[in-house]
Parts: sequence; C-alpha cells; structure tokens
Amino acid sequence: MAFKVGLLGFGTVGTGTAAILRDRDRRNPLLQDIEIGRVGVKSLDKPRAIALDPDLLTTDLESIVTDPDIDIVVELIGGLEPARSLILKAIAAGKHVVTANKAVIARYGDELYAAANKAGVYILLEASVGGGIPIIKPLKESLGANRISQITGIVNGTTNYILTQMTEEGADFDAVLTEAQQLGYAEADPTADVDGLDAADKIAILASLAFGGRIDREAIYCEGIRQVSAEDISYAEKLGFTIKLLAIAQKTENRDNTLQVRVHPTLLPNAHPLASINGVYNAVLVEGEPIGQVMFFGPGAGEGPTASAVVSDILAIAGILKSAGKNTALNPLLSCSHQDYSAI
Ligand code: NDP
Ligand code: HSE
Repeated sequence: MAFKVGLLGFGTVGTGTAAILRDRDRRNPLLQDIEIGRVGVKSLDKPRAIALDPDLLTTDLESIVTDPDIDIVVELIGGLEPARSLILKAIAAGKHVVTANKAVIARYGDELYAAANKAGVYILLEASVGGGIPIIKPLKESLGANRISQITGIVNGTTNYILTQMTEEGADFDAVLTEAQQLGYAEADPTADVDGLDAADKIAILASLAFGGRIDREAIYCEGIRQVSAEDISYAEKLGFTIKLLAIAQKTENRDNTLQVRVHPTLLPNAHPLASINGVYNAVLVEGEPIGQVMFFGPGAGEGPTASAVVSDILAIAGILKSAGKNTALNPLLSCSHQDYSAI
C-alpha cells in the first residue's frame, strides 16, 4: 500500500523532510510505502537544495490539499494564514495533517482539532515544540498517568544559541542572530524568536497537553532577550548564574487552582539542570506526581532534527492507515485530539 504525502513548503524543514522521504534505505521499512506526491512553494524559480521532479512543484497549494491522490498533508509554510485555511481545507477533504507550525496550533488548535475529530482524521504536531525532541507524544501518552505540576523549558533554539554565543564567545547579538538565520534556526520573521513569541506559542501547546485545558495564547506574559546585555551576562557569570530564556507553565495551589504561563529571561544557578543546555539545544523539564522530575533534551531547531520529528508523525499515520486500511474512518479519539484541549 503506497501513501502519498503533499508537502506544503520546501524551505528548511520541507527540504529536510523531503531528504528523509527520498532516502529510505536505512530507516523504518514503512518509508518504502511513502511517496512525495506534490510540493507547494511560493516561488517556482528559487534554487532548491535538493532536486525533485519539477512537475511535483506548484504554487497552487489549494490544489494539493484537495488532490484525491494525497493521503497526508504536511504543512511546513509557517505563519497563521494561509496555513490555517489550508489545514482546514485538507481536513475537510479527508486528509490527515502533520504540521510543525506552533503559531497556528497555539492560536487555532481548538478549531483544528474539532474539525479533525469531526472528519475522523489525524492532526499530529511533534515538530511544533522542541525541534527533534520527542516531547508531544511522551507528554500526551507516556506521562498520562501523572498529575503534572510544572513544565519549565528552553524551547527556542535561536535565542538559546544567541545567549550561548554571547556568554561563551562574547559575541555580538545582531551578528549571532544573522548566523542563526543562516543556519535555518530562526523563524521567517526572527522577531518571533527574539521577543519570546515563539517560546510562548510552544509553552501554550505544552501546557494545553499537560494540563488539559485551553490556554489563551494572548494572555501569556512574554518577554524576550532583546534587553539582555553583555554586562548582564558577565555579572550573572560572576555570581554563579546563567541567563536563559525560560518558558514556564505552573499550576498554583491557590483557591482557583490557576495556571501561570509565562516566558522571560531568567537567572539560573549554574547547578540547575537547564543551566547547561547550550547552543541550539532545547530541554523541557516536566514535574509531576508520581514521576517526580523528567527532562527531555535535544536539538531544538534546524533542518535535520525538525524533519526527524515531522517524518515520525508521517510514519505514525502511515502505520495506522496500513493496519486499519487506507479508507477506513479512523477513531478520532486516537488522534492528538480536541479532548486534549477541552478536558478541563
Ligand atoms: P522556511 O521559511 O524555510 O520555508 C517556508 C516554505 O514555505 C518555503 O518553501 C516557502 O516557499 C513556502 N511558503 C511560505 N509561505 C507560502 C505561501 N503563502 N504559499 C506557498 N508557499 C509558501 O520555513 P521553515 O522550513 O524554517 O519553517 C517551516 C515551519 O516549521 C514553520 O511553521 C516553523 O515555525 C516550523 N519549524 C521550523 C523549525 C526550524 O528549525 N526551521 C523548527 C521547528 C518548527 P519558497 O521556498 O518558494 O519561498
Ligand atoms: N525558530 C525556532 C527556534 C525553530 O529557534 O526554536 C524551532 O521551532
């Protein structure tokens, strides 16, 4: 049984995803059954890092999401629109969806999950938080027996890379940001990284999964790293601290049992488990009962690591479709579903 993937986007993550899908030898045998059906881009004239059959490329992304030959739509264009509308159209056309787009999930997750549940299709998003780190599935499934009390994460690779280079090399902020853009870590508009907005999207997603309620993305306190100076870093070092941009979701045991969700630069004592996470690496520390503390660590951005997470979702869907039969309506409760967002 062959499954056709429609890729929306052929930039950093799209290229990495296509590279894995083309080089199937050394990986999960299920990859033999997965083909790239079509690829949607903005410009047909742009030089591409890997050569695909030019007939696969189109600027008409709507025609991909409604193409009867496509089984799984992989949204890698980023941003809110047209990403949201394309995902909704794909779902309405009965396609399963994989996305790396934290901005759209943090704001429209409810709407997208409701649509996916109704249509009986999957929407999976492992790459949306932590790049290559498996965090969404473990949080939803492997930690399901726990009562989570706090999530503390370094969830933006670009800013962690900048802070690390400023600390270790005394590098200039703007120069390191340019480097992070060249390395494919930064968002199309790097303001989202530098001002903490990307980290806020990610902690909104993690908090929704861990605490089972909808998080109002716009209510998250959000402060980025623009104000962190070389002087701040040097004083912190002298005092035995490291400055990290943390994203925190914390249950407060007051009468309302409310959740505090926030993003800001933080002074961490050097002995803290997150203080030694450097460069583009991310880490998420989860605290719960009965597990205590568990930490997820790995490359938080970049072509290969992010594509690893995207393809893991494609494989998960293909695996289920293969055992269920391609045209069987799936039990939407199995998917990363609306229930995760509306349980409380
Ligand atoms: P890029 O900017 O490198 O690539 C975006 C791609 O989408 C390009 O191929 C572009 O076409 C295409 N595209 C954008 N807008 C449109 C449009 N309106 N119509 C048609 N095509 C469009 O982004 P990334 O690959 O870095 O990121 C993709 C997604 O993955 C984002 O949601 C991002 O947040 C997420 N992500 C990125 C990570 C990273 O490390 N880069 C890590 C984790 C998640 P063209 O090539 O013609 O310009
Ligand atoms: N711009 C993001 C980052 C990409 O730097 O973490 C990964 O989500």
